[in-house]
Amino acid sequence: MKILFFGTKNYDEEFFSKILQDKTYEDLDITYIEPNLTPETASLAWGYDAVCAFVNMDLSAPAIDMLNKCGVKLILMRSAGYNNVDLDQAKKYGITVMHVPGYSPEAVAEHAMALVLTANRHTHKAYIKGRENDFSLSGLMGVNLYGKTAGIIGTGKIGIAMARICRGFGMRVIGYDLYPNNTLDFLEYVDLDTLLKESDLISLHCPMFENTYHLINTETINKMKDGVILVNTSRGGLIKTEDLIKGIREGKFFAVGLDVYEEENGSVYEDLSERILGHSTMARLLSFPNVMVTSHQGFFTKEALNAISQTTVDNAMAFINGVKNGNEL
Ligand SMILES: NC(=O)c1ccc[n+]([C@@H]2O[C@H](COP(=O)([O-])OP(=O)(O)OC[C@H]3O[C@@H](n4cnc5c(N)ncnc54)[C@H](O)[C@@H]3O)[C@@H](O)[C@H]2O)c1
Repeated sequence: MKILFFGTKNYDEEFFSKILQDKTYEDLDITYIEPNLTPETASLAWGYDAVCAFVNMDLSAPAIDMLNKCGVKLILMRSAGYNNVDLDQAKKYGITVMHVPGYSPEAVAEHAMALVLTANRHTHKAYIKGRENDFSLSGLMGVNLYGKTAGIIGTGKIGIAMARICRGFGMRVIGYDLYPNNTLDFLEYVDLDTLLKESDLISLHCPMFENTYHLINTETINKMKDGVILVNTSRGGLIKTEDLIKGIREGKFFAVGLDVYEEENGSVYEDLSERILGHSTMARLLSFPNVMVTSHQGFFTKEALNAISQTTVDNAMAFINGVKNGNEL
């Protein structure tokens, strides 16, 4: 099987190449290229059986149309999320789309807590102050998490991992999910309004679908406690950024941690330090002292990259062998 690997970073090639050394995978022939998969670059897949893509790429209908023309039969998403793929269009052509569910929920949940701790205790600022011989504590005051209430929206694999971490901090943990799974005895399910009203920390872990798009907006923000900490490691579109900025300006939030944001396409994973950004939302968010932003790196641990590469090549093998392994979308 000839696979075209879009958007290759050095770590992708490192982790995939290591796994492909195993003879089990000798039928897989991967070509790594730097461009991201978009409608404009999809034609590069001419002559390939499969493409491998990630969360920052554009697999909307025009890209899928072109992949179909190129003869591609399989799209291997090396991610859990797939809201950037037009699944209906792929289905129309009989193109199989596979993903990597739950490769390491703890990687993302631990990053969510890292954002909470950084935004709350300002460790990023303390580091910079220390380097400037400024050992004062001004601007560094946080709040205790112990004894507070953590609200988890979306209690799937990552939400559950985050719930366990919050429990470890001595927090009361409440959750909201369309499909409660009751696997944790300390997690109390409530409706969304109750979660918004009672939580001191709100962490978003539901997928982005039509019914979760802009779930956090002025109306839901107004229902939150004053001084709430909000963290989003799921998808940027869960938060209506303009409304978030308004809420931050009005002093609603003690801290905000974002690993994902609405404008990330086109900038995420790229070094744009020498360019003038064409949008201003990020600049505005970064201007607030209580906002911490990272660039979609929740997944970025050795364990997660290993699991992503392993499952992706196993998905390709399952497809070759005509076996359904449950990772088809
Ligand atoms: N930051 C990162 O690097 C990173 C990495 C992986 C995944 N993610 C994001 O994390 C999300 C969650 O991943 P997961 O593995 O836990 O997924 P999951 O499918 O295990 O869990 C999602 C949960 O959300 C619930 N849900 C669905 N619709 C809902 C709604 N309208 N309201 C409330 N809950 C709802 C589901 O019932 C499920 O329990 C993914 O969709 C992805 O967008 C981010």
